[in-house]
Amino acid sequence: MNRRIDPNGTIVILTGAGISRESGLDTFRCEGGIWAQVDLEDVATPEGFQRNPKMVQDFYNARRAQLVEEKPQPNPGHLALAKLERDWPGRVLIVTQNIDNLHEEAGNKNIIHMHGELLKITCTQCDSVRPWDQDLHIDTSCPSCHNIGTLRPHVVWFGEMPLQMEEIYDALEDADLFMSIGTSGNVYPAAGFVQAVKQMGGCHSVELNLDPSNGATLFDETVYGPASEVVPAYVDALLKNG
Ligand code: APR
Repeated sequence: MNRRIDPNGTIVILTGAGISRESGLDTFRCEGGIWAQVDLEDVATPEGFQRNPKMVQDFYNARRAQLVEEKPQPNPGHLALAKLERDWPGRVLIVTQNIDNLHEEAGNKNIIHMHGELLKITCTQCDSVRPWDQDLHIDTSCPSCHNIGTLRPHVVWFGEMPLQMEEIYDALEDADLFMSIGTSGNVYPAAGFVQAVKQMGGCHSVELNLDPSNGATLFDETVYGPASEVVPAYVDALLKNG
Protein backbone atom coordinates (compact mmCIF):
# COMPACT_ATOMS: atom_id res chain seq x y z
CA MET A 1 0.00 0.00 0.00
CA ASN A 2 1.78 3.14 -1.19
CA ARG A 3 -0.59 5.66 0.36
CA ARG A 4 -2.79 5.82 3.42
CA ILE A 5 -6.48 6.04 2.57
CA ASP A 6 -8.78 8.13 4.77
CA PRO A 7 -10.69 5.49 6.81
CA ASN A 8 -13.92 7.31 6.02
CA GLY A 9 -12.98 7.54 2.36
CA THR A 10 -14.85 6.08 -0.60
CA ILE A 11 -13.55 2.95 -2.30
CA VAL A 12 -14.70 2.11 -5.84
CA ILE A 13 -13.82 -1.38 -7.05
CA LEU A 14 -14.00 -2.40 -10.72
CA THR A 15 -14.07 -6.16 -11.23
CA GLY A 16 -13.79 -8.30 -14.34
CA ALA A 17 -13.97 -11.96 -15.28
CA GLY A 18 -10.62 -12.72 -13.62
CA ILE A 19 -12.10 -12.46 -10.12
CA SER A 20 -14.53 -15.29 -10.95
CA ARG A 21 -12.02 -17.56 -12.68
CA GLU A 22 -11.03 -19.43 -9.47
CA SER A 23 -14.73 -20.04 -8.90
CA GLY A 24 -14.75 -22.03 -12.13
CA LEU A 25 -16.15 -19.43 -14.55
CA ASP A 26 -14.30 -18.78 -17.83
CA THR A 27 -12.73 -15.43 -18.61
CA PHE A 28 -13.10 -13.95 -22.09
CA ARG A 29 -9.57 -13.36 -23.35
CA CYS A 30 -7.33 -15.73 -21.41
CA GLU A 31 -6.19 -18.78 -23.35
CA GLY A 32 -9.20 -20.93 -24.20
CA GLY A 33 -11.51 -18.18 -22.93
CA ILE A 34 -15.08 -17.56 -24.08
CA TRP A 35 -14.09 -15.49 -27.12
CA ALA A 36 -11.84 -18.31 -28.27
CA GLN A 37 -14.84 -20.67 -28.14
CA VAL A 38 -17.46 -18.50 -29.88
CA ASP A 39 -17.37 -15.38 -32.06
CA LEU A 40 -18.50 -12.39 -29.98
CA GLU A 41 -20.01 -10.85 -33.14
CA ASP A 42 -22.48 -13.75 -33.20
CA VAL A 43 -23.53 -13.80 -29.54
CA ALA A 44 -22.68 -10.42 -27.95
CA THR A 45 -23.93 -7.82 -30.43
CA PRO A 46 -27.44 -6.58 -31.32
CA GLU A 47 -26.71 -7.51 -34.94
CA GLY A 48 -25.90 -11.08 -33.94
CA PHE A 49 -29.18 -11.28 -32.01
CA GLN A 50 -31.07 -9.91 -35.02
CA ARG A 51 -29.35 -12.42 -37.32
CA ASN A 52 -29.80 -15.53 -35.18
CA PRO A 53 -31.72 -15.05 -31.91
CA LYS A 54 -31.75 -18.79 -31.17
CA MET A 55 -27.92 -18.98 -31.22
CA VAL A 56 -27.76 -16.05 -28.78
CA GLN A 57 -30.43 -17.47 -26.47
CA ASP A 58 -28.66 -20.86 -26.46
CA PHE A 59 -25.30 -19.19 -25.63
CA TYR A 60 -26.75 -17.40 -22.59
CA ASN A 61 -28.96 -20.38 -21.61
CA ALA A 62 -25.78 -22.47 -21.24
CA ARG A 63 -24.06 -19.83 -19.07
CA ARG A 64 -27.22 -19.24 -16.99
CA ALA A 65 -27.63 -23.01 -16.47
CA GLN A 66 -24.01 -23.18 -15.26
CA LEU A 67 -24.78 -20.59 -12.56
CA VAL A 68 -28.08 -22.22 -11.57
CA GLU A 69 -27.11 -25.93 -11.76
CA GLU A 70 -23.38 -25.97 -10.89
CA LYS A 71 -23.80 -23.20 -8.30
CA PRO A 72 -20.23 -21.85 -8.51
CA GLN A 73 -19.15 -20.48 -5.12
CA PRO A 74 -17.56 -17.10 -4.40
CA ASN A 75 -13.80 -17.52 -3.87
CA PRO A 76 -11.63 -15.75 -1.23
CA GLY A 77 -11.30 -12.78 -3.60
CA HIS A 78 -15.07 -12.19 -3.62
CA LEU A 79 -15.32 -12.87 0.12
CA ALA A 80 -12.57 -10.33 0.89
CA LEU A 81 -14.56 -7.62 -0.94
CA ALA A 82 -17.66 -8.51 1.10
CA LYS A 83 -15.56 -8.20 4.27
CA LEU A 84 -14.29 -4.81 3.05
CA GLU A 85 -17.84 -3.53 2.48
CA ARG A 86 -18.84 -4.80 5.93
CA ASP A 87 -15.82 -3.51 7.91
CA TRP A 88 -14.71 -0.35 6.08
CA PRO A 89 -16.20 2.76 7.77
CA GLY A 90 -16.55 4.65 4.47
CA ARG A 91 -18.52 3.83 1.29
CA VAL A 92 -17.53 0.74 -0.74
CA LEU A 93 -19.02 0.33 -4.23
CA ILE A 94 -18.40 -2.60 -6.57
CA VAL A 95 -18.76 -1.76 -10.26
CA THR A 96 -18.61 -5.12 -11.97
CA GLN A 97 -18.33 -5.99 -15.65
CA ASN A 98 -19.34 -9.52 -14.69
CA ILE A 99 -22.85 -10.84 -15.28
CA ASP A 100 -22.51 -13.63 -12.70
CA ASN A 101 -23.97 -13.38 -9.19
CA LEU A 102 -20.84 -14.15 -7.16
CA HIS A 103 -20.46 -10.71 -5.55
CA GLU A 104 -24.05 -11.03 -4.27
CA GLU A 105 -23.40 -14.61 -3.15
CA ALA A 106 -20.32 -13.38 -1.26
CA GLY A 107 -22.45 -10.84 0.62
CA ASN A 108 -21.79 -7.50 -1.09
CA LYS A 109 -24.86 -5.26 -1.27
CA ASN A 110 -23.53 -2.12 -2.98
CA ILE A 111 -23.05 -3.42 -6.54
CA ILE A 112 -23.54 -1.98 -10.03
CA HIS A 113 -23.63 -4.54 -12.86
CA MET A 114 -22.59 -2.22 -15.69
CA HIS A 115 -22.83 -5.05 -18.27
CA GLY A 116 -26.09 -6.46 -16.90
CA GLU A 117 -26.91 -9.73 -15.15
CA LEU A 118 -27.19 -13.29 -16.44
CA LEU A 119 -30.03 -14.08 -13.99
CA LYS A 120 -32.27 -11.35 -15.39
CA ILE A 121 -34.07 -10.85 -18.71
CA THR A 122 -35.50 -7.78 -20.40
CA CYS A 123 -38.25 -7.24 -22.96
CA THR A 124 -37.37 -5.20 -26.05
CA GLN A 125 -41.04 -4.22 -26.36
CA CYS A 126 -42.03 -3.05 -22.87
CA ASP A 127 -38.54 -2.64 -21.34
CA SER A 128 -39.54 -4.69 -18.28
CA VAL A 129 -36.62 -6.36 -16.45
CA ARG A 130 -37.18 -9.40 -14.23
CA PRO A 131 -35.25 -12.19 -12.52
CA TRP A 132 -34.99 -15.30 -14.72
CA ASP A 133 -33.22 -18.58 -13.92
CA GLN A 134 -34.52 -20.87 -16.68
CA ASP A 135 -33.83 -21.26 -20.38
CA LEU A 136 -35.15 -18.49 -22.60
CA HIS A 137 -36.57 -19.48 -25.98
CA ILE A 138 -37.39 -17.36 -29.02
CA ASP A 139 -41.09 -18.16 -28.51
CA THR A 140 -41.21 -17.40 -24.77
CA SER A 141 -43.82 -14.68 -24.26
CA CYS A 142 -43.11 -11.62 -22.12
CA PRO A 143 -44.86 -12.01 -18.72
CA SER A 144 -45.62 -8.26 -18.78
CA CYS A 145 -46.75 -7.37 -22.29
CA HIS A 146 -47.32 -10.95 -23.55
CA ASN A 147 -45.48 -10.28 -26.79
CA ILE A 148 -43.64 -13.24 -28.32
CA GLY A 149 -39.98 -13.13 -29.35
CA THR A 150 -39.22 -9.86 -27.53
CA LEU A 151 -37.34 -11.28 -24.53
CA ARG A 152 -33.52 -11.15 -24.36
CA PRO A 153 -30.88 -11.65 -21.65
CA HIS A 154 -30.48 -8.51 -19.49
CA VAL A 155 -26.89 -8.26 -20.74
CA VAL A 156 -25.20 -5.25 -22.38
CA TRP A 157 -23.77 -6.16 -25.79
CA PHE A 158 -20.96 -4.52 -27.72
CA GLY A 159 -22.17 -1.26 -29.21
CA GLU A 160 -24.74 -0.78 -26.42
CA MET A 161 -24.48 1.69 -23.53
CA PRO A 162 -23.43 0.11 -20.21
CA LEU A 163 -25.83 0.61 -17.29
CA GLN A 164 -25.82 3.29 -14.56
CA MET A 165 -22.88 5.18 -16.06
CA GLU A 166 -23.83 8.51 -14.41
CA GLU A 167 -23.87 6.84 -10.98
CA ILE A 168 -20.51 5.22 -11.74
CA TYR A 169 -18.80 8.46 -12.73
CA ASP A 170 -20.25 10.23 -9.67
CA ALA A 171 -18.73 7.50 -7.49
CA LEU A 172 -15.37 7.73 -9.31
CA GLU A 173 -15.35 11.48 -8.69
CA ASP A 174 -15.94 10.82 -4.99
CA ALA A 175 -13.38 7.99 -4.75
CA ASP A 176 -10.33 8.10 -2.47
CA LEU A 177 -9.26 4.64 -3.68
CA PHE A 178 -9.94 2.98 -7.06
CA MET A 179 -9.24 -0.75 -7.22
CA SER A 180 -9.30 -2.67 -10.52
CA ILE A 181 -9.44 -6.46 -10.12
CA GLY A 182 -9.37 -9.25 -12.71
CA THR A 183 -9.86 -7.26 -15.89
CA SER A 184 -7.69 -7.03 -19.02
CA GLY A 185 -8.51 -3.36 -19.66
CA ASN A 186 -9.71 -4.16 -23.18
CA VAL A 187 -13.27 -2.85 -23.09
CA TYR A 188 -14.37 0.77 -22.64
CA PRO A 189 -15.76 2.62 -20.78
CA ALA A 190 -14.56 0.39 -17.89
CA ALA A 191 -10.98 0.37 -19.22
CA GLY A 192 -11.00 4.18 -19.05
CA PHE A 193 -11.97 4.47 -15.35
CA VAL A 194 -8.34 4.59 -14.17
CA GLN A 195 -7.68 7.50 -16.55
CA ALA A 196 -10.85 9.22 -15.30
CA VAL A 197 -9.82 9.06 -11.64
CA LYS A 198 -6.34 10.30 -12.56
CA GLN A 199 -7.84 13.29 -14.33
CA MET A 200 -10.18 14.01 -11.41
CA GLY A 201 -7.15 13.95 -9.07
CA GLY A 202 -6.91 12.95 -5.42
CA CYS A 203 -7.57 9.25 -5.78
CA HIS A 204 -5.08 6.39 -5.29
CA SER A 205 -5.45 3.68 -7.95
CA VAL A 206 -4.36 0.05 -7.70
CA GLU A 207 -4.55 -2.86 -10.16
CA LEU A 208 -4.80 -6.37 -8.72
CA ASN A 209 -4.60 -8.88 -11.57
CA LEU A 210 -2.99 -12.14 -12.65
CA ASP A 211 -0.81 -10.20 -15.06
CA PRO A 212 -0.48 -6.58 -16.26
CA SER A 213 -3.58 -5.29 -18.05
CA ASN A 214 -3.57 -2.93 -21.02
CA GLY A 215 -3.80 0.00 -18.61
CA ALA A 216 -1.23 -1.23 -16.09
CA THR A 217 1.12 1.76 -16.41
CA LEU A 218 -1.70 4.16 -15.51
CA PHE A 219 -2.10 2.77 -11.97
CA ASP A 220 -0.33 4.26 -8.93
CA GLU A 221 0.15 0.74 -7.56
CA THR A 222 0.04 -2.75 -9.06
CA VAL A 223 -0.19 -6.16 -7.37
CA TYR A 224 0.00 -9.34 -9.46
CA GLY A 225 -1.18 -12.82 -8.55
CA PRO A 226 -4.40 -14.82 -8.36
CA ALA A 227 -7.34 -12.84 -6.95
CA SER A 228 -7.98 -15.43 -4.25
CA GLU A 229 -4.55 -14.57 -2.81
CA VAL A 230 -3.80 -10.90 -3.62
CA VAL A 231 -7.27 -9.49 -2.87
CA PRO A 232 -7.60 -10.83 0.70
CA ALA A 233 -4.05 -9.67 1.48
CA TYR A 234 -4.74 -6.18 0.10
CA VAL A 235 -8.07 -5.89 1.94
CA ASP A 236 -6.50 -7.00 5.24
CA ALA A 237 -3.76 -4.37 4.88
CA LEU A 238 -6.38 -1.73 4.02
CA LEU A 239 -8.49 -2.57 7.07
CA LYS A 240 -5.41 -2.62 9.29
CA ASN A 241 -3.58 0.48 8.03
CA GLY A 242 -6.20 2.45 6.08
N1 APR B 1 -6.99 -13.73 -10.60
C1 APR B 1 -6.89 -12.45 -11.04
N2 APR B 1 -6.92 -12.09 -12.34
C2 APR B 1 -7.10 -13.08 -13.23
C3 APR B 1 -7.21 -14.45 -12.87
C4 APR B 1 -7.15 -14.75 -11.48
N3 APR B 1 -7.25 -16.01 -11.03
N4 APR B 1 -7.34 -15.18 -14.00
C5 APR B 1 -7.33 -14.32 -15.03
N5 APR B 1 -7.16 -13.07 -14.58
C6 APR B 1 -7.10 -11.82 -15.36
C7 APR B 1 -6.43 -11.98 -16.70
O1 APR B 1 -5.04 -11.75 -16.59
C8 APR B 1 -7.12 -10.89 -17.53
O2 APR B 1 -6.39 -9.68 -17.45
O3 APR B 1 -8.43 -11.44 -15.62
C9 APR B 1 -8.47 -10.71 -16.85
C10 APR B 1 -9.63 -11.22 -17.66
O4 APR B 1 -9.72 -10.42 -18.82
P1 APR B 1 -10.93 -10.65 -19.84
O5 APR B 1 -11.07 -12.10 -20.11
O6 APR B 1 -10.71 -9.70 -20.97
O7 APR B 1 -12.22 -10.24 -19.02
P2 APR B 1 -12.75 -8.77 -18.73
O8 APR B 1 -11.62 -7.81 -18.61
O9 APR B 1 -13.68 -8.89 -17.57
O10 APR B 1 -13.60 -8.42 -20.05
C11 APR B 1 -14.31 -7.22 -20.03
O11 APR B 1 -15.29 -7.78 -22.16
O12 APR B 1 -16.24 -9.30 -23.55
C12 APR B 1 -16.52 -8.27 -22.70
O13 APR B 1 -18.54 -7.96 -21.56
C13 APR B 1 -17.37 -8.72 -21.55
O14 APR B 1 -17.37 -7.89 -19.30
C14 APR B 1 -16.54 -8.40 -20.33
C15 APR B 1 -15.56 -7.36 -20.84
